[in-house]
Amino acid sequence: MSVVRGAVVYYSRYGNNEKTAEGVAQGLREAGHEVELVNLKANKELAPGYDFLVVGSPTRGGRNSGPVRKFIKKNVGEQWRGKPFAAFGTCMHQTCEKGQPSAAGEIHTEMEARGMEPLADSFDNPVSGMKGPLAADGEERARSFGREAGEKLRG
Ligand SMILES: Cc1cc2nc3c(=O)[nH]c(=O)nc-3n(C[C@H](O)[C@H](O)[C@H](O)COP(=O)(O)O)c2cc1C
Repeated sequence: MSVVRGAVVYYSRYGNNEKTAEGVAQGLREAGHEVELVNLKANKELAPGYDFLVVGSPTRGGRNSGPVRKFIKKNVGEQWRGKPFAAFGTCMHQTCEKGQPSAAGEIHTEMEARGMEPLADSFDNPVSGMKGPLAADGEERARSFGREAGEKLRG
């Protein structure tokens, strides 16, 4: 599959999911893809022309955050059916290590329900408190997730 260009779309309140998004984007680039980071604090719309979509959010009450939910509702329509995606997010380590509901899991379910094709299982990056930080290897884990998803895109 000659996928070349994708967007990593994210929301972050305290910066942990932003670091995760940057790691995921770096991994995708290392796998040879052109990637644009889209911060929903600055942009609500997605430009046309991307081949794949990676979306991430902090967990709120075991769910996806409002800005990311709105983004998916407005932007992930029929034009994305059959195209590849991956989902990631941050959550408190007490919850995501126990496999409780998280933003990443909900994003994954939503995108699949819209007919998109998963590149990987959803990725939960744990934080140790409400405002973080990520675990010491959190950015590296994000990068590996991006690289592995990117390698899958290459077929
Ligand atoms: C209103 C609110 C609700 C939250 N609910 C949850 C939750 O249900 N489960 C969880 O793991 N973390 C929860 N958190 C903590 C977030 O996971 C944490 O703030 C976030 O992952 C940090 O990412 P950010 O720095 O990108 O904002 C909540 C945080 C806020 C502010």
